[in-house]
Amino acid sequence: MPAPLISVRDIGKSFEGTHALSGVDLDIAPGTIHALVGENGAGKSTLGKILAGVYGPDAGTIRLDSREVSFQSPRDALAHGITIVAQEIALVGTRSVIENIYLGSEVHTGPFVRTKRLRRLFDELVADTGIDVPGDALVSGLSIADQQKVEILRALARNADVIVMDEPTARLATHEAEALMSIFDRLRGRGKTIIFVSHFLEEVLSVSDTVTVLRDGKIVDGGKATEFTPGSLIAAMIGRSLESAFPPKAAISQGQPVLSVAALSRAGAFENVSLDVDAGEIVVITGLVGSGRSEVLRSIYGLEPPTSGAITYKGEPAQYRHPRQAIAAGMALIPESRKTEGLFVGFSLVSNVSLPHLPRFSRAGFVRARAAHRSATEQMAAVGVKARSATVEAGLLSGGNQQKILFARSFMADIALLLADEPTRGVDVAAKRQIYDLLVQQAANGTGVLLVSSEMEEVIGLAHKVVVMRQGRVVGQLRGSDIRESAIAELAFGQTTQA
Ligand SMILES: Nc1ncnc2c1ncn2[C@@H]1O[C@H](COP(=O)(O)OP(=O)(O)OP(=O)(O)O)[C@@H](O)[C@H]1O
Ligand SMILES: [Mg+2]
Repeated sequence: MPAPLISVRDIGKSFEGTHALSGVDLDIAPGTIHALVGENGAGKSTLGKILAGVYGPDAGTIRLDSREVSFQSPRDALAHGITIVAQEIALVGTRSVIENIYLGSEVHTGPFVRTKRLRRLFDELVADTGIDVPGDALVSGLSIADQQKVEILRALARNADVIVMDEPTARLATHEAEALMSIFDRLRGRGKTIIFVSHFLEEVLSVSDTVTVLRDGKIVDGGKATEFTPGSLIAAMIGRSLESAFPPKAAISQGQPVLSVAALSRAGAFENVSLDVDAGEIVVITGLVGSGRSEVLRSIYGLEPPTSGAITYKGEPAQYRHPRQAIAAGMALIPESRKTEGLFVGFSLVSNVSLPHLPRFSRAGFVRARAAHRSATEQMAAVGVKARSATVEAGLLSGGNQQKILFARSFMADIALLLADEPTRGVDVAAKRQIYDLLVQQAANGTGVLLVSSEMEEVIGLAHKVVVMRQGRVVGQLRGSDIRESAIAELAFGQTTQA
């Protein structure tokens, strides 16, 4: 093995009493893809951020090319050739894609020349990587998947020797994730080093040279990727083996529709969408990112009202103009982007879970705060939120734990229809299984569940019925044993269309 490029010794990092990392020793060889895996909250992002100069460690040393370094900022780390694609998207919404990619890079020329020069650099970057996003578009108008691509392009444009990629594929469709993996391969071919954080263990094992497993802030296992299987990685991550990723599918008692959507359209988003969700049924809408799936959910929930068509909910017409009406009628939505839509990041966990439900805990004008608090903490425990206390700020939780907070919130109410957009994105395998159990349990209690998911395994593992969308239209519906990967992919990519 060549001398390590990065050598970490005895690194420790705490956040107000939480030991995010302790005693971490790690060597990363140059020109390799080195994966970091572990449950939500294991410390992967913290380690990546320390390597990229976002945080300073409380203890320990980092050597780069055998010289000790101590980065004062991400810019300082970049000057040493290290950059990061963070787990959270941090783009400037009011600026164009090109501006975001080159913001802060040193391109010193006159304003006019600069624009032309950046355009040329951008075109070269797109041609080189095959990652295509409209350069002049405002970032705020892009889908989450496209914003993720901008983040990746931004890091690649930095031309760093070491790139920390913290869950870069969590927001991408399958074929986009595969394309990114071949970019990883090419970068490695050019001698670049990639530190790759991902919950997609198959992806990790297929592309990485080396794997390091973290648990509770410590390194518990690691070695050559070829020495691991997804099962052995999971066992190392959670300290026990996981029998199966999905709970058994419950049979559904025939035909009480909770939701019936007929010929629903929203100009520019989707057209002529019809689908039913029965009580106890789990229906998954899948298809490529951008096929209109999220927009359908948002229309049902009153966020983006449809322009034509009909929604029938619990036997009554339901054309909501505001989510408040949907919530009052017993719907819940877990949105796609938890940072911008779902979570009050500056509020405590317990507030995040209980705030929307406080009217239920009010008697004669007084909120029964203690009852609300108790109920919220019970729900958090039920969904397996890991946090030091119920009063920490939600924004400080790891990604997966943030997602569980949204589940705890929607399960506080008595719901008849649960809508969830990519509900397990960024969630670790063990927590995923918990969330799947919760979804199946909700359905078993008679709730209709309508999900949007891009993860093939999840679609197949959960759905009683799959609705495939392409370019704003429903191109097929599959049930029972017809739910197969090949059938779904053919519909999603447009090789076939169901009559
Ligand atoms: N800025 C912060 N302030 C307080 N606590 C933090 C902060 N950042 C991380 N933590 C805590 O440190 C621990 C490790 O978090 P980290 O984000 O590194 O986990 P992770 O392995 O990346 O998890 P995930 O898979 O959910 O992204 C968690 O307990 C988390 O709540
Ligand atoms: Mg993380």
